[in-house]
Order: sequence, then C-alpha cells, then structure tokens
Amino acid sequence: MDAGLLLPQPDLLGDRRLVVVSHRQPYAHVRHGKSAAVQVEKPPSGLTLALEPIVVATHGTWIAASGGNADAEFTDARGYVRDPPPDSPYRLRRLTLPPSLREDFYTGFANSSLWPLCHIAYHQPRFEEKWWRAYQAVNEIFAQAVAEEIGGEPATVFIQDFHLALAPQMVRARCPRALIAQFWHIPWPNPEAFRICPWRRELLEGMLGNDLLGFHLSYHGMNFMETLDRELAVRIDREHNLVSRPGAAGGLTKIGAFPISVDAQAIIASVTTIAAQQSVRELRERYARGRQLVLTVERMDYSKGIRERLEAIQRLFERHPQWRDRVSFVQIATPSRTDVRAYRDYAAEVDHLVAEINRRWGVRDWKPVLPLHQYVEPRQVWNWYLAADALIVSSLHDGMNLVAKEFAAAARDDAVLLLSEYTGAAREFREAVLLNPYAIDDFADKIAAGLEMPLEQRRERLRRLRWRVLQYDIGAWAADILRALRQHYFDNHGSAFPENSGGGMA
Ligand code: G6P
Repeated sequence: MDAGLLLPQPDLLGDRRLVVVSHRQPYAHVRHGKSAAVQVEKPPSGLTLALEPIVVATHGTWIAASGGNADAEFTDARGYVRDPPPDSPYRLRRLTLPPSLREDFYTGFANSSLWPLCHIAYHQPRFEEKWWRAYQAVNEIFAQAVAEEIGGEPATVFIQDFHLALAPQMVRARCPRALIAQFWHIPWPNPEAFRICPWRRELLEGMLGNDLLGFHLSYHGMNFMETLDRELAVRIDREHNLVSRPGAAGGLTKIGAFPISVDAQAIIASVTTIAAQQSVRELRERYARGRQLVLTVERMDYSKGIRERLEAIQRLFERHPQWRDRVSFVQIATPSRTDVRAYRDYAAEVDHLVAEINRRWGVRDWKPVLPLHQYVEPRQVWNWYLAADALIVSSLHDGMNLVAKEFAAAARDDAVLLLSEYTGAAREFREAVLLNPYAIDDFADKIAAGLEMPLEQRRERLRRLRWRVLQYDIGAWAADILRALRQHYFDNHGSAFPENSGGGMA
C-alpha cells in the first residue's frame, strides 16, 4: 500500500523510518494438531488490527514477542519472519521471551497488576516483586532489540501500550537520536487509584522517556499529568501539555489525546464483496431464523461487562416479555489470557450464566443466547457485523473499544449500536444508544428501546456513525500522532538555527 493512500500527508515521517514496538504480534503462525497445516492467525486485539495498515503504508518494521506455536519455523536466526504473508508485507522481528520471564511479565505484572489497576472494573490488582522484576527484564529485551534495529539512526520509534511502560526510557538511553512516541491503549486512572502500585514512580519515569505520549481521551492525559504532579518532581506546563523530564538528559514530553480508529474503507470494501454477502445470508439463515439478531464481540474479559449484560438479558425477558422468542443474542467471546486465574474463573461464570438463561427462557428450537466462545478471524467478524440487527458493547471501562467503530463501518444502515458510556468511543459516538452496564433494569430497557427504534431514526443514527469513522479513520489517527511528534521535535530542537535563538539577527 502506498503511504499516500492511508496517510493524508505521506511526508509525516520526514526521512526517518518507522519502527513499531508492541508485545502482541500482528500475526502468528499456528498449527492446530501435530500434522495439521500451519495457519497465519491475526489476534483478537484491536491494537494490532488498527496498527497494521500504518506499518504497511509506511514500509515500517514491527518488533513484537513471538507467540504462535509454529512461529520459529518461519523466522530466521535473529527472529525476522522470512516470508511475510501477502496481507502483511513488512518486516516483522519476533522476540523469543524466556518462558519463565514471560509468565511473570504477561500473566503477572501486565495482566494481574497493570490491567486491573488501569481499568476501574472493581477487580483488585495484585503486585508481586518477581512479576515486577520480569516486567523490567522484558522491557530491557524490547529496548535492546530496538537498539539493534536502528543503531545510531534518527528513526521514529512508536511503542505500544501498558506492556512497555519502561521501554521508552531504556530506548532513549541506548538511541539518543531516536524520536520516541508511545500510545497508551487503555485508560489512565485517577492518581488515587494509581497510587496503590508499589512501583508507580519507576513506571512514570519510564514513560517520561517519550517525546510524545498519547492517550485516547484528554481526560486520561489529565489523569496522567495529575499523577505525575503527585508522584514526581517534574515541571508541568498545562497550557501546552508539556512535562519536563527529570534527570541529566532533560528534554520534554508532550502529552496528547488521539482517539484511535479503524481502517473503515478496508472494512467496507471487505463486507461489500459477493463472498461476504453470501456469508451474511448464511449467518442469518442459521442464527436469526426470522428473529432479531443481536451481536456482541469481545475478548473473554471481566472488563467487558459480559456478566452484567447477561443479567440485563434476563431482565429484558422479565420486563419486556414481548421479546421472548423473538431475539437471539450471538455472543462471540474469544478466549483470552487463559493463564490468568481471574480470566478462567470469569469464563466459567459466563458459561454458567448462559446455560441458566437458556434453561430458563429457551423454548422449542430457540435458545436466547448462542455462545461462540472461540477465535473468529477478522473478516468473518466483519461479516457478522453486517448480519446483525444490533450490536451491544457493555464494557465496564474501555480505553476506546474498536468493536464499536468496526461495527459503524460494516453494519447495515438500519442496525442499532448500544454502547456503554464507559468506553472512549462513547465520547464520539453520540448517535449510539448509550447505556450504563451497572444499571441492570435500565440496561434491559435500553435493549428494548434499541430493538423498537423507528426505522428512520436507526438509519439516520447509523449513517452519522459511519460518517464519523470514515472522517477520522486509522490513517487520520496515525497522521495526527506523527504530525504532533514532528511538530514537537521542531518546537524543541530550534537551537540548530542559532540566529533564531536570541540576538543573532540584525
Ligand atoms: C487490549 C490491549 C492490547 C492487547 C489486547 C489483547 O486491547 O490494550 O494491548 O493487545 O487487549 O490482549 P492480549 O493480552 O491478547 O495481547
């Protein structure tokens, strides 16, 4: 893909190359069963799906941890994928993390400490010293790989998410000519919530290694600056959202809000193919059978409010009996982080609730909830969006929620989006039916209201939502970040032109 097709100004990188760094890799080589053929699988991660078109468009390099059981067969001795798949034509370097570190890093500090710390879903974070040590070690491994990749070049390094909070400072120490940006894909909590983390100062110092630090919402950026103010001796310029970095190297970190989006054109192109239309017909024949089809798509994660939604479905049948036997809830929930106990327990609880609802409300050939707790590849998920009469996003707390944005791109004009007000997407998507997943009765009433909404209103709302994702798609998001990074660099490296730095001009 040509950068110009996706990025409104292809020159946003200058002559710097782009290196994207994330824990999760954009695709994995996976073999299901000993003699089975190897498949290329894209993970159920909004982050990787959103970023891939940017790396393709800019001919960038991606550094990520290896994860597929057949990855090694497709990489060279240094971890570079030898023959990238046609859909992913860029350099991918896979890092092999030692299994003992990986568990304490990923299952431990990333998903049992930081994830519940940043998502206010009333799930208590746990902190273990050995998890923290592993987190430091893994961040070092990533920083070292970046240094090997760019050496002394003036590259742009774009680090992703909460797995790599320490990496920016570590990359800066190794690569002084790099421009470093990081995007934090999850919420940043208020200082009161964050202060229970025993290593909060180290995390903040790591993140101040960035030239630019992006959040989805300015609210999260404000929380971050407030947290800094309480925890570190830094100077904060609130007019320009600049933080002076502590330490001898000095420098400034710019904080910005960049609401991430999706490749709306690609989604629309995919769902308008003849094959997609055929698949949609089959999905409706098999799963709707004359009823309304309400879809949910998420990772099996307590922050997604799956339990609350199932309770609301029960309440819907109690409070609005006209909907019994007239609506099917298809629940695509991809297993996720299954090594974390809280995730396994949650999945078991969800299974139990689904069975209970189906037992209580099911009649003849109809079960109200159809659980598809499995991996579904992205293009097929987009077909599901088109097959659905409505989509519910019930997150208790979510940085953005790209499922809502993908749905806005793919859905039929007469479909309805019901969206938790605790997602970043709710700030932009005012045409969605907003709901509070904690308020079960009201949630049930909102589902009924969505299903009963007059056709003209549904059409007008969905068209506006689609307009929003087409106006601000993933290309616009990436362009905004790269532009802000370059502008910040120009603003703060003016000393290369001495005549402008005071008294030089006559
Ligand atoms: C969230 C995080 C991403 C992550 C995704 C899937 O969206 O912000 O960084 O990739 O969840 O999680 P996983 O643990 O499977 O990478």
